[in-house]
Amino acid sequence: MPTPLIVANWKMHKTVSEAVDLVQEMLPDLRVIPEIQVAVAPPFVALSAVGVVLREAGLFLAAQNMFWEQEGAYTGEISPVMLRDLGCRFVILGHSERRQYFGEGDGEVGRKVHSALQEGLVPILCVGETLGEREYGKTFEVIERQMRGGFEDIVLDSGEELVIAYEPVWAIGTGKTSSPEAAQEVHGFIRGLLGNVLGEKVSEKIRIIYGGSVKPDNVDALMAMKDINGALVGGASLDVDSFSRIVNFGRD
Ligand code: PGA
Repeated sequence: MPTPLIVANWKMHKTVSEAVDLVQEMLPDLRVIPEIQVAVAPPFVALSAVGVVLREAGLFLAAQNMFWEQEGAYTGEISPVMLRDLGCRFVILGHSERRQYFGEGDGEVGRKVHSALQEGLVPILCVGETLGEREYGKTFEVIERQMRGGFEDIVLDSGEELVIAYEPVWAIGTGKTSSPEAAQEVHGFIRGLLGNVLGEKVSEKIRIIYGGSVKPDNVDALMAMKDINGALVGGASLDVDSFSRIVNFGRD
């Protein structure tokens, strides 16, 4: 069983000082769980300051996006080299909000995944269907297209180098969660695809995490599913009590 991974995605919330205050408030509850990995993805401007606090506590720093080039004339972009330099371990790529509002396609997301791997970052590749796609029975087709676009031709030494986040778009920020069984069905499908492309041994080690309105009251049932190896948490990760309960999933 891969080590469970819980990632806080703070999106475009919190100034630097607010972000430091929040992570400091969370620390006492996060520190005490050695058997899982916890990562926090604050906005770019807060990475440095939040990273200092996380490092001391043995927690991981994650970025919410990056460009694929190492450096150059790309105004407004952030490179994987810069993220490594700040101590980032993970980078979220192809989040549905990037796809929806910033026009990122599978090709671009794929280039980012390759570049992140090359620079020693662990990409968290996000995939997920919209409500319309689900209603038209296209869920598996969409997931397969996004997966293939995201990791075509990659070679991994071990499954720990890659994380897949299944986030049904209709569940993000809406309060609607996929049922644990429906999520497991897609996670199982993703595991199968990974096995076909990368081999079974590697695929068993890859964390496939679920995202989309993960809350204290649904995390236990989701985490009990065989192929759900963690959670990508948006709204509930901005609240100290909610996030503490989520990282303590399966306990009373
Ligand atoms: P949510 O966001 O938990 O607020 O639904 C999840 C995400 O977008 O990663």
